[in-house]
Amino acid sequence: MTNRYAVVLAAGQGTRMKSKLYKVLHPVCGKPMVQHVVDQLNTLELNELITVVGFGAEKVQDQLGDASHYVVQEEQLGTGHAVLQAEDILADKEGTTVVVCGDTPLLTGETLQKLLDHHDSEQAKATILTAHADDPNGYGRVIRGGNGQVERIVEQKDASDEEQAIQEINTGTYCFDNQALFQALQNVSNDNVQGEYYLPDVVEILKNESETISAYQTPDFSESLGVNDRVALSKAETLMKERINERHMRAGVTIQDPTNTYIGPDVKIGQDVSVYPGTVLEGETVIEEDAVIGPHSTIKDCFVGKASVVKQSVATNSRIGERVQIGPFAHIRPESSLGDDVKVGNFVEVKKASFGDGSKASHLSYIGDAEVGSGVNIGCGTITVNYDGHNKFLTSIEDDAFIGCNSNLIAPVTVGKGAYVAAGSTINKDVPAEALSIARSRQTNKEGYATKFKSIKKD
Ligand code: UD1
Ligand code: CA
Repeated sequence: MTNRYAVVLAAGQGTRMKSKLYKVLHPVCGKPMVQHVVDQLNTLELNELITVVGFGAEKVQDQLGDASHYVVQEEQLGTGHAVLQAEDILADKEGTTVVVCGDTPLLTGETLQKLLDHHDSEQAKATILTAHADDPNGYGRVIRGGNGQVERIVEQKDASDEEQAIQEINTGTYCFDNQALFQALQNVSNDNVQGEYYLPDVVEILKNESETISAYQTPDFSESLGVNDRVALSKAETLMKERINERHMRAGVTIQDPTNTYIGPDVKIGQDVSVYPGTVLEGETVIEEDAVIGPHSTIKDCFVGKASVVKQSVATNSRIGERVQIGPFAHIRPESSLGDDVKVGNFVEVKKASFGDGSKASHLSYIGDAEVGSGVNIGCGTITVNYDGHNKFLTSIEDDAFIGCNSNLIAPVTVGKGAYVAAGSTINKDVPAEALSIARSRQTNKEGYATKFKSIKKD
């Protein structure tokens, strides 16, 4: 098989975004655009993937990590100049190089594969991925000769009125014979309106050398959407959202209102899960079958077990077992772990805490830095007092303990197995297993006091 390389162009600042964040790092459905591109390229079998970085180089490298090699384009002199930065690594290699812009997040691995197959079967030196655009504004136009063969690409700013009327656009994705690419790049000039070295000029150069140039037109324009400004960003977001939601629905997930459901590209959802409106599922979240999520829940980097219910709640970086009930209005903060059949009810905050199977905190509690055993009942208004202004301390509540309402557990402290804490207690010493601890002042009743008080005449 021929060697395959990929070059991702990601050095531009993205002036048209008017943003402090570098363009290719703007997220679409929670994932930076350039990461979408790299993830799709990685579905192909590549010998090497190189990203051209410039503006925000460090940030782009932090994002992509080891998934790519990097070359730096010090000055942004155009897309042709950008590819040329990979010359030292690629120029003498035999094989095919795919070039993709870092601002086309909707491009799929399937389309890239079709482009490669087309390139191979046509034995072309260059194959352009083109699309038919209803509104071709801003894109390079594909100029075909009388015989229908691609002759060159003209940028919007360099195009005549007649050329601007052409609706076949350059998606900015190409396959090249690698050696032909780097030879042709030597001859690209910056003699154009923008004074830039245009990568698409390679097409005309190769054509003039009588090489075979081909084009593969993708039927789905949306894949070629290039994001140059925030209007296009929101279009990309909508299209990506529709694509993701449709994939889940076809796989057996009920999404009541897909226009108001936001699911990240890497989220996994089991069969017969129901997702209600206003739900945001992000990161590496996994939702197992029969779970019910939403309305209005935000879950990031969590595992949610079978048949669990998360209503109007927020959960981050935590593990939630099976048949767990969360919400409405609960907050599961990072590094928490809830066993099976747990209940975390309204206005309960859980932080860096583990709950064993069947434990419940049904109302109005803060459980932070805590280990809660199984079968524990935490009464309304219970607070783990975990912080003294300097350090955090651990609260341990052992299996089957019962914490009465409105109790403060001042950490570090342990409530032993099966123990009871009386309502309204402030516990600052360990409670032995099976004990009852009462830590509140005794109640005094003054008989007849109220009647006497009310009978005192006011002046
Ligand atoms: C480019 C194409 C255009 C095509 C469109 C598709 C050129 C000259 N034009 O235009 O034909 O229709 O994409 O979306 O290629 N970049 C660098 N270094 C540079 C310049 C750009 O790395 O010096 C990167 C940018 O970060 C971006 C990508 O290349 O990810 C494309 O650059 P951009 O300025 O967005 O090109 P377009 O004007 O959209
Ligand atoms: Ca662009």
